[in-house]
Amino acid sequence: MLTFSKIKDTQSFLENERKHGRSIGFVPTMGALHDGHLELMRRAKNENDLLVVSVFVNPLQFNNAEDLKKYPRDLKKDEALLQAVGCDLLFAPQTQEMYPKEETKNYDFGELESVMEGAHRPGHFKGVAIVVNKLFDITGPQRAYFGEKDFQQLAIIKKLVGMESLPVEIVPCPIVRETDGLAMSSRNARLTPEERELAPFIFETLQWAKNNKGGMTTSLLKQKVNELFETRPHFQLEYFEIADDKNLQPVTSWENGRGILGFVAVHLGKVRLIDNIRFI
Ligand code: PAF
Repeated sequence: MLTFSKIKDTQSFLENERKHGRSIGFVPTMGALHDGHLELMRRAKNENDLLVVSVFVNPLQFNNAEDLKKYPRDLKKDEALLQAVGCDLLFAPQTQEMYPKEETKNYDFGELESVMEGAHRPGHFKGVAIVVNKLFDITGPQRAYFGEKDFQQLAIIKKLVGMESLPVEIVPCPIVRETDGLAMSSRNARLTPEERELAPFIFETLQWAKNNKGGMTTSLLKQKVNELFETRPHFQLEYFEIADDKNLQPVTSWENGRGILGFVAVHLGKVRLIDNIRFI
């Protein structure tokens, strides 16, 4: 596996690979890799000639300085996992390399960013879009792989690709869960052992909502889920939303004729976790 920290080295190496007709499958990450990331990488490796991965904790997408400071980082461990999964090139830049000057680019994702993560984490998706656009420019992938745990991020990135006419196929990949149902996330590493034991309650509640939604209006289901979290003092529910899978706007009826998902963001101790489940 090659490891580059400089944009120019990465660009010129990959340009040469493309000239030789090799396809690039790209998985952007912020490191602290887990099996959810590795699943994306296995798929990217399978569907392309080269697997390229980036590890970069992007300061622009954190709206909370403490969250950025505490974000788990372990490049040595990540490198060993990347070797094992057959990564061909790791791009691991420093912040100065990615942002030598202040970023002025702005994006308007309209209704997609007015709800859920967009509403609760101001500036988050602008930061994601800036870094993903840069990373696509540096790595020039045919395909890029994103997990559906960050469902709203995926919708924003698809929109970004359309807005900027980027020649990359976005490949959505299903959520990977621990055996007890907890969605895999780098943030799970920050849970205390006690919190980790409690954490499966998030997915249990989503499953409960899916199994019990028959006969309930969307607003009653939302109320019930809120009540369930209120019975658990370790959890602080930020939102539970029932939303359309295309425009991500809240739905007030089960019959919108399209897909509907349940989305949750919850604080467990000092850690903020998100998850989702398809209802229809
Ligand atoms: O999903 C993530 O880990 C990040 O938001 C991404 C896409 C790597 C951009 O920093």
